[in-house]
Amino acid sequence: MSIPQAFIQELLARADVVEVVGRHVQLKKSGANYMGLCPFHGEKSPSFCVSPTRQTFHCFGCGAHGSALGFLMDHSGMSYVEAIESLAQEFGLQVPDDGASGQDRARAAAERQRQATLSDVLAKAAGAYRRQLRESPRAIDYLKGRGLSGEIAARFGLGYAPPGWRTLAGVFPDYDDPLLAESGLVITGEDGDDKRYDRFRDRIMFPIRNVRGECIAFGGRVLGDEKPKYLNSPETPVFHKGRELYGLFEARASLREQGFVLVTEGYMDVVALAQLGFPNAVATLGTACTGDHVQKLFRHTDSVVFSFDGDAAGRTAARRALDAALPHAGDRRSIRFLFLPGEHDPDSYIRAFGHDAFARALAEAVPLSRFMIDAAREGCDLAEAEGRARLASHAAPLWRALPQGALRRQLLGELAGLVQLAVPELAQLWGDAPAAAPQRRDNRSDYQNDSNRRPFHKGYGAESLENPVRGGGSGPRAGLSSRADHAARILLTRMAAWDGLSSADHALLCALPAPHGPLFVWLEGQLLEHGVQPWAALREGLRGHTSEALALKATALLQEAPASEANEASSGDEGDPELRGLLDLLHDDQLKQQETDALAANDLERYRLLHAQRRERAGAKGETRR
Ligand code: UTP
Ligand code: MN
Repeated sequence: MSIPQAFIQELLARADVVEVVGRHVQLKKSGANYMGLCPFHGEKSPSFCVSPTRQTFHCFGCGAHGSALGFLMDHSGMSYVEAIESLAQEFGLQVPDDGASGQDRARAAAERQRQATLSDVLAKAAGAYRRQLRESPRAIDYLKGRGLSGEIAARFGLGYAPPGWRTLAGVFPDYDDPLLAESGLVITGEDGDDKRYDRFRDRIMFPIRNVRGECIAFGGRVLGDEKPKYLNSPETPVFHKGRELYGLFEARASLREQGFVLVTEGYMDVVALAQLGFPNAVATLGTACTGDHVQKLFRHTDSVVFSFDGDAAGRTAARRALDAALPHAGDRRSIRFLFLPGEHDPDSYIRAFGHDAFARALAEAVPLSRFMIDAAREGCDLAEAEGRARLASHAAPLWRALPQGALRRQLLGELAGLVQLAVPELAQLWGDAPAAAPQRRDNRSDYQNDSNRRPFHKGYGAESLENPVRGGGSGPRAGLSSRADHAARILLTRMAAWDGLSSADHALLCALPAPHGPLFVWLEGQLLEHGVQPWAALREGLRGHTSEALALKATALLQEAPASEANEASSGDEGDPELRGLLDLLHDDQLKQQETDALAANDLERYRLLHAQRRERAGAKGETRR
């Protein structure tokens, strides 16, 4: 589909980012901006800033950033086209397709109409199944027997399809409506309508929802030992098994809070895990995990843990998941494999051993790199040249499937060691061009440019500098507060410097804890309303403001500052290097604080992510400083 740029611009002009975000995040006006709790990571104090003037959102905590469209994609996991369609629908607009003929367009419109009608039918059925569950003590007992509370049943919209061949006739007056067959709810005989009957009879019903929360299919489980144990909706225009994940809609918010998704194989695994403290689980729908699944998951999180039964079938399924995951194993992502012992699935394991045992098992999940190497060396005797050659041939397609990056290079080194070849030899064998040399040259020239452009880094190298305002202080909060003071001093006396900052910087400053954040929010409002003003004018406007004391304290330092700084204060320069360095440190402070918070909350997964993020930042800076 090729959507004209002009249409996207029109859409963005009509949509209000505050309104779009505000539907999902509680926002509070704060000066010119709106603040709220970031929906992309767990936090207790607001660092998520929405700017109506820029029509963007930004989280200084996790760095999430974008437009109304970006928000829909990141938050609801919609694709680009889906996000555009969803916005267009709100304004009653038809998405034009540059590449489509009139006929194609008409067909696409008809298709959308049909999908909407199918969704209505499925939603109506889901409602009926839910009501019927309430009236069936047998079905309720079954769910209770499996340890589920009413609350969890309600969260997942569980229902019950009663016995009887045409129960749905009581829900849909026109039982012959072709939509019922098309939605998969009714099965028709090959030659004639008289053979119609309900697909789901006497089963616990699990509605399968898409990321927008619409019911698109069902899974139904027998209450006893009859076969088949589970029955699923067939493929329909709204349901493609290889793309959908059970529980993803219900898990979305938890994925962000927990920082990872747990992929299981069964409906009951998802609901049982949610019941026992792991609301971030999803399941494939009785199919092997596909690349589409993996791609979809990575729209919601950077960390995926696949869990598998410990038996042979589990191993096979894990191998399939490995194949699906390899092309998506970017350097910033984490993919791990959890193997449960013996005959256990996550549901039975957590019921038998409890929440903490499951958490421990999770912590020991095997990283993709290790599983990949184990898979490749299976059945290879590395003491023999033949065995090592076999390992090389098993590993080649796996390694080639990896995206370019550090992980791919590391594994090349590791595999070269195992097969006892030099790295360039193995690379040559696998047809990988030795890209290392030119890349290193590029890096070096980059670094030279960078250090010329940004000499200020010199002064901010270490945290224990003589100047207490710049120093680390005792713990992240103290450092943050003194650095924020310093930033306040610069910006109050050299307001023009504000203009040289990126919107990410603005958001970072505006979201600082009181009294600093409110002061910067106020200052940004001043800039938008009145333009750059001298400190004396700002001073007047600040009277009575909650951050007045802070502003006075910060600028009092100015009086004691050396003359050179006072002179600079009137020059109204942009791209202030001192401020730039300060903001870098402030960002580090924030990350450190969040790390501490994550540790305090015992959220190791999040802690690790944040820590890696900070190390990466430190690494990048180290390079420019050297
Ligand atoms: P399992 O047989 O492992 O069942 O199938 P389970 O999830 O542990 O179910 P419980 O605990 O006995 O209730 C795993 C998944 O495979 C699909 C379903 O999606 C199921 O959740 N499946 C299984 C089917 O589609 N049909 C079947 O007959 C069996
Ligand atoms: Mn099970």
